[in-house]
Amino acid sequence: MKSELKGKNSHKATNSFLLLFFCTGILLPLEAAGGSYTQSAHGDSGGGVARSSVTGYAAGNCSHCHEQHASVDGEEPLPVSGDASPFAVFSDGFNDSVQFGPYVMTDNFCFYCHVSSGGLQNGGGINNYQYSNTFGGYTTNWVTDILGAFNLTSYHNLYDIQNFAESKFSFFKQSSNPCVACHNPHLAKNRKDHPSDADYTTISKPSDHDNLWGDAANERMSNYTSYRPPYYYGSTSTYEPGGVVLHDGSLQTDYNAFCLDCHQYEVPVSTPGVTSMNPNTTNGYLTAIDWGSSGDMHGERARLFGVGGNATGCIGTIIAPYNTAPVQNNYVLSCLDCHDPHGSILTTGNRPSTYLLRKEVNNNKVDGCSGGGEQYFCESDFCFSCHTNSHAGPQGCFGCHYHGGENINCGGPWTGPNF
Ligand code: HEC
Ligand code: HEC
Ligand code: HEC
Ligand code: HEC
Ligand code: HEC
Ligand code: HEC
Ligand code: HEC
Repeated sequence: MKSELKGKNSHKATNSFLLLFFCTGILLPLEAAGGSYTQSAHGDSGGGVARSSVTGYAAGNCSHCHEQHASVDGEEPLPVSGDASPFAVFSDGFNDSVQFGPYVMTDNFCFYCHVSSGGLQNGGGINNYQYSNTFGGYTTNWVTDILGAFNLTSYHNLYDIQNFAESKFSFFKQSSNPCVACHNPHLAKNRKDHPSDADYTTISKPSDHDNLWGDAANERMSNYTSYRPPYYYGSTSTYEPGGVVLHDGSLQTDYNAFCLDCHQYEVPVSTPGVTSMNPNTTNGYLTAIDWGSSGDMHGERARLFGVGGNATGCIGTIIAPYNTAPVQNNYVLSCLDCHDPHGSILTTGNRPSTYLLRKEVNNNKVDGCSGGGEQYFCESDFCFSCHTNSHAGPQGCFGCHYHGGENINCGGPWTGPNF
């Protein structure tokens, strides 16, 4: 949705930024006072930004993130090499000598506050849980903060995101923070306390950074005629997001359009051990996702068979809520029905990565192949969140069923998509 801050924040170099910040130090907050910044999670005069070391500024004031001098009264952390950090924020946006995780707090400006303890925000910590907990109702909090989510074994690699975003999106500068590829810190709202209300979205499409994504009716999953959200954990009568009865997609952000801003392309990956499941994808990259009508069947391509698994061989069933009336002939799933946006649990067995796959899917805890515990992840258990039928070893499903996979046989000739 169009934002009132649009067009204001288009300054490039650190020096001109500092100058701008000085000159408009009074104007900008005033201008923002009636606008989107004060409605954002950070600009909120109650629970917004408030570094305990920065006194004399109200909660929500820009100065809790930006420093008009290289640092406020010499407070920690000290500016990199004595100069102001890019965009005059209180630390370097991202330590880009860190090519892969695990990350520490000082690697990323946002981590200084988005840690559950030991951070700079008043009180020392901010709790944030996994998508499958906040939106899906899963009850085990494997991590309690954003730093923890990016330190799970499978994670969105911040270095790769930074490079890719710089190559594709003009707002994104070489010194930009990789989190900013998906979030605009001046606009992001507090969704965790309003999970069922997409007006409180936290994200901005990288191709439309100056606006929020999800806060307008045409930015929701109801854009797809046959979206049906997964069950909320522990329930077969309420749905995501947040355990609601309404299940037409109108309460959920259109994550497909958001994720495909980047994933319509092959994206480079440098995380050790992570390779594409798709043999046709360029080496060193991940598959370009085709969610359109001639792409994957979990996207807009219509499936081939009924939900009841009436035939033999490979063909299996699709379970509730998808098999409940009115049964649709072409469900379109959301990327976040299956994936967690920041990171996901580690895995054992033959998996190089769990590809950010959710720990809880459609009211099913994805476990190890013979139980195990939180840290285990079994491919067939993942599929069984929504299907029955198995015709391979339990860790051998992604070898045939992957994004873009086609014509891969199952005990006989097979022509057509596998995913
Ligand atoms: C000075 C401390 C501070 C810094 C630095 C900071 N944040 Fe925040 N952030 C907060 C506070 C405080 C909240 C609101 C309280 C809460 O969510 O518990 C918040 C909330 C958010 C939310 C909304 C979360 C929700 O509740 O759904 C997002 C998204 C977010 N921050 C992203 C970022 C990103 C991205 C960065 C770095 C560019 C960043 N933050 C840097 C303090 C900070
Ligand atoms: C700003 C660009 C961008 C956006 C937006 C984006 N991604 Fe990614 N994604 C990347 C890049 C670059 C990689 C490769 C590096 C990596 O693996 O983390 C990647 C990797 C992945 C991977 C593989 C991770 C692994 O290492 O196994 C998955 C799964 C994924 N993205 C899902 C998503 C989903 C779901 C969304 C929407 C919530 C999304 N992405 C949005 C850039 C993006
Ligand atoms: C949660 C921390 C945070 C708060 C609060 C904050 N900013 Fe920012 N701001 C950032 C970050 C991080 C960047 C750098 C974005 C990037 O990496 O590309 C930035 C960049 C900017 C820019 C450069 C252009 C752009 O949008 O990227 C301007 C101008 C700006 N901020 C003004 C303000 C003003 C004015 C306020 C208060 C009304 C404010 N900021 C509050 C974190 C914050
Ligand atoms: C690839 C895109 C992407 C990147 C990169 C990314 N996020 Fe997010 N983030 C999301 C999505 C999607 C959500 C789900 C919330 C929503 O729909 O509004 C989210 C949610 C959040 C939340 C709210 C969590 C809650 O409690 O519900 C915070 C805080 C946050 N992100 C901070 C960060 C920080 C800090 C970074 C960088 C270290 C980061 N994000 C990087 C996509 C991203
Ligand atoms: C969140 C629920 C969900 C998960 C998890 C899921 N699927 Fe599906 N799957 C569906 C739905 C719903 C459809 C029907 C799509 C349509 O109607 O076009 C489908 C369709 C399919 C189809 C096409 C069926 C046909 O009739 O052509 C195949 C094959 C498939 N899934 C395999 C898998 C495999 C293998 C896994 C595990 C890697 C998996 N699915 C995980 C919900 C899911
Ligand atoms: C050797 C390749 C291969 C392997 C390995 C494989 N599958 Fe399949 N699978 C197929 C083919 C081919 C189909 C038929 C395609 C279709 O239904 O669209 C199929 C169909 C399915 C369907 C049917 C979906 C529907 O609604 O009709 C499910 C469910 C499924 N597979 C689950 C699994 C699971 C779980 C595993 C791992 C235990 C697995 N598959 C391993 C090739 C394979
Ligand atoms: C039905 C569940 C499901 C949905 C919905 C889904 N994914 Fe995936 N995704 C998977 C599985 C399973 C894998 C691991 C197999 C593979 O790599 O394709 C995966 C892997 C990936 C990868 C790594 C691909 C590679 O080269 O191996 C990316 C990137 C990705 N997903 C992005 C997305 C995006 C973007 C969307 C939404 C447009 C999406 N996914 C929707 C289940 C899903």
